[in-house]
Amino acid sequence: MTEHLLAVDGLTIAFPSDAGPIQVVKSISFTIGREIVALVGESGSGKSMTGRAIMGLLPRRAEVTANSLSLNGDDLLRLKPSAWNRLRGSGMGLILQDPKFSLNPAHRVGRQVEETLLLHSELSAAERRNSALDMLEKVGLADPARVYASYPAALSGGMGQRVMIAAMLINRPKLIIADEPTSALDQELQDQILTLLRSLTEEFGTSLLLISHDLQQVARYADRVLVMRHGQIVDRLAATSLADAQSAYTRGLWAARPSAATYGSRLPTLGAAGGTA
Ligand SMILES: Nc1ncnc2c1ncn2[C@@H]1O[C@H](COP(=O)(O)OP(=O)(O)OP(=O)(O)O)[C@@H](O)[C@H]1O
Ligand SMILES: [Mg+2]
Repeated sequence: MTEHLLAVDGLTIAFPSDAGPIQVVKSISFTIGREIVALVGESGSGKSMTGRAIMGLLPRRAEVTANSLSLNGDDLLRLKPSAWNRLRGSGMGLILQDPKFSLNPAHRVGRQVEETLLLHSELSAAERRNSALDMLEKVGLADPARVYASYPAALSGGMGQRVMIAAMLINRPKLIIADEPTSALDQELQDQILTLLRSLTEEFGTSLLLISHDLQQVARYADRVLVMRHGQIVDRLAATSLADAQSAYTRGLWAARPSAATYGSRLPTLGAAGGTA
């Protein structure tokens, strides 16, 4: 077994422009084991592009290069499309900010939770249904059978995010990438969802890359933190060290953390000295 489930070495992502390629991620390197690693940084720093590159879900125009990009020993740079599909179904999953955009409004919840089992397992229809009902219960939904038969429109935001987590974890992926998974929810629900993600990934031995701009939240739920700025990783630290970070930039981000007053608005862009602009 590889010690590092995910190993990223020299990942660079560029978009073509009239003035030549623009690098939005610039030769970043990091590893993830069985832990929660947070990727933080101001808007536009390259967090989502990094997550998408690992999932093989970058826009077609994006140019990706790396010395290596490997998941559990598989070289992601050389995967064929069919292997990508298999990996996305069983090796890793992506949880996005808003379940409204991830769940198909035209299909019942149960079918969507079961989908990876349908595509990537040999289970019978009855086994898939049982597995989905178990998973819906595990993510804390009170009436799994009712949720199973519902359409996404009948779910609240918090329920929708629980359903997404059930759908992502049902096939026991090795890695989950959660890109601002709770930004659309109020504080209490954010804590509930992250507590749930933390305990389930621990139980299943799943690695989690948590993309967030809320450093307070990251301090509570992550093990390690990578700070991105202008496409580079500018600081690496234990989540427990966030409150007294050495780097001026990280300290600035910590001080600019969202509060109830700024809830829903974007993080301010930080000046060169790391202070709040
Ligand atoms: N399709 C695209 N073509 C060109 N540039 C893009 C494209 N998509 C994103 N970018 C640029 O890539 C950079 C990194 O974007 P990314 O979405 O990774 O930022 P982020 O750190 O996730 O920000 P946020 O906190 O706002 O989600 C940004 O400057 C963005 O403008
Ligand atoms: Mg983003």
